[in-house]
Amino acid sequence: MCGIVGILGNSPAVPRMMESLKRLEYRGYDSAGVATVTSAGLNRRRAPGKLSALSDVLAAAPLEGDSGIGHTRWATHGEPTENNAHPHQTERVAIVHNGIIENFKSLKNELSGTGATFEGDTDTEVVARLLTRYLEDGNAPRDAFQATLARLEGAFALCVLINGEENLMFGAREGSPLVVGTGQGENFLGSDAMALAGLSNQLIYLEDGDWAEITRDTVQIFDRNNTAVQRPVSISQVAATMIDKGNHRHFMQKEIYEQPTVVAQALGRYLDPINGRVKLPDAPFDLATIPKITLVACGTSFYAAQVARYWIEKIARVPVDVDIASEFRYRDPVYAENGLSIFISQSGETMDTLAALRHARAAGQHIASIVNVLGSTMARESDMVLPIHAGPEVGVASTKAFTCQLSVLAAFAVQLASAKGRIDDAAVAAYVAELEHAPTLMAKILRKDEEIEAIAQDISGARDILFVGRGIYFPIAMEGALKLKEISYIHAEGYAAGELKHGPIALIDENVPVIGIAPNDDLSGKTISNLQEIMARKGKVILLSDTDSTAADNMYAHFQMPTAGDLITPILYALPVQLLAYYAAVEKGTDVDMPRNLAKSVTVE
Ligand code: F6R
Repeated sequence: MCGIVGILGNSPAVPRMMESLKRLEYRGYDSAGVATVTSAGLNRRRAPGKLSALSDVLAAAPLEGDSGIGHTRWATHGEPTENNAHPHQTERVAIVHNGIIENFKSLKNELSGTGATFEGDTDTEVVARLLTRYLEDGNAPRDAFQATLARLEGAFALCVLINGEENLMFGAREGSPLVVGTGQGENFLGSDAMALAGLSNQLIYLEDGDWAEITRDTVQIFDRNNTAVQRPVSISQVAATMIDKGNHRHFMQKEIYEQPTVVAQALGRYLDPINGRVKLPDAPFDLATIPKITLVACGTSFYAAQVARYWIEKIARVPVDVDIASEFRYRDPVYAENGLSIFISQSGETMDTLAALRHARAAGQHIASIVNVLGSTMARESDMVLPIHAGPEVGVASTKAFTCQLSVLAAFAVQLASAKGRIDDAAVAAYVAELEHAPTLMAKILRKDEEIEAIAQDISGARDILFVGRGIYFPIAMEGALKLKEISYIHAEGYAAGELKHGPIALIDENVPVIGIAPNDDLSGKTISNLQEIMARKGKVILLSDTDSTAADNMYAHFQMPTAGDLITPILYALPVQLLAYYAAVEKGTDVDMPRNLAKSVTVE
């Protein structure tokens, strides 16, 4: 949600902030803004809509100054208008914010009662007015900032400039991530490592309750009790060059086509093909004694969890609960004693998943996380971290993170089965060899992308599209539907193939394309029968299968998949559904990388 950058630098801040905001636009693109502080005071420029609108504003009215703060917004309180865009500014302060100030109404009433006026509807403006009030009361900047933080409830990351203070910036973190980047005679703040790529690779992640007072030469960090603390410095793995579309039209396209490479990279960290073994990072618990696994995630990561349940139960015979993170803690889950809870998240910051992690930790569970962003909060709060090594994922629709999550989860399932004594070394070696083969088969599928492109163009005019699959392919059907609806805005649903006749088949007519995911396995006969039932009702069936073409007789289209082992097949079937969504969206002319109403990293509940 919302991207933040803050610079106390030695060269013009606006071009540097705009570069950073470009990398952060994936976090929100409802509006953008920048403010700088100079001897002439605070100045800002804001614009509703994408960053390009802010560039136009800046071209017409440039902003000077070596120190500044910038923001891309995903609206929570207040519409995406210029008045609601950040930075929020008074005569004394300029503020950018990510998150939600839950008690903003009572603070607003209090401030209005003493004469403060507000130009917009955001919770952030209340923080700007409150800090201004404390400064007007004669408090020094640090005291005023501390007093302001003490009044705020909710989840937030803040970055603040003060009029008359050209060498001072404050940052605070409560629930929403914020990272300090250090440089030579300059220092920075950002909402993540992406914000600071190209500015600094020496990062200090603030912890919840921390706040920082920053000058060009000093960084002082305090905890929620205002006690000075030291936080470790880590080296960023994210280079500015990694966040580049290359020759691709969209980040999503680049990320789809990167998958053979990044999956090979991810598997390289977990497999020892020479000895036919899986190697997991050290954990402070013994997999052999884990009685039950709980998998929790949101969106695409949740579908990865659903696929993993089939693997873990089938291969390791360990019971698995799978939950949507936003529902998890409210259903008062029953944990098994000594159980392992695994949280899957590309960003490692998704608020619902993080809250679920903390719930499981409080219940005494062992905690593992499967994340892409290494320094993320979930990674830092886990007993065992399984990074997916997908590299920065910028497209809002998750693609390569999904297949890398699946690859890591497959390796985990094999290792768990081995630790439990459910499979012998030969079986482990066979699974390892199968996983090793996945990138080659993925590349083979991507080479036939023109076929999928033609199908996507053909069905892109449909109002509704269904995806159906059985068993482990049911979550792939749901993932296909999610991908399609979020970037093409075509209504799509994923169903278990056998469930259609219990209601959804009523939707079928000659205008409804149905994507059937049916690899040639022991369930494919049943799935194909369900597809025949759809065809009998004039539905247009598009079959994704390695089965021979006779099974596809009379079907509207058949995309021939390669035959592969059971373990890696779900990973492979993710590709055609991603391509289908991508090319349907391109055909419809939607904004593929920044679909409406969405943001990449969802740090509000
Ligand atoms: C869909 C998509 C989202 C995310 C979800 C969880 O394409 O990207 O559904 O999967 O918001 O995000 P993470 O994995 O960062 O927790």
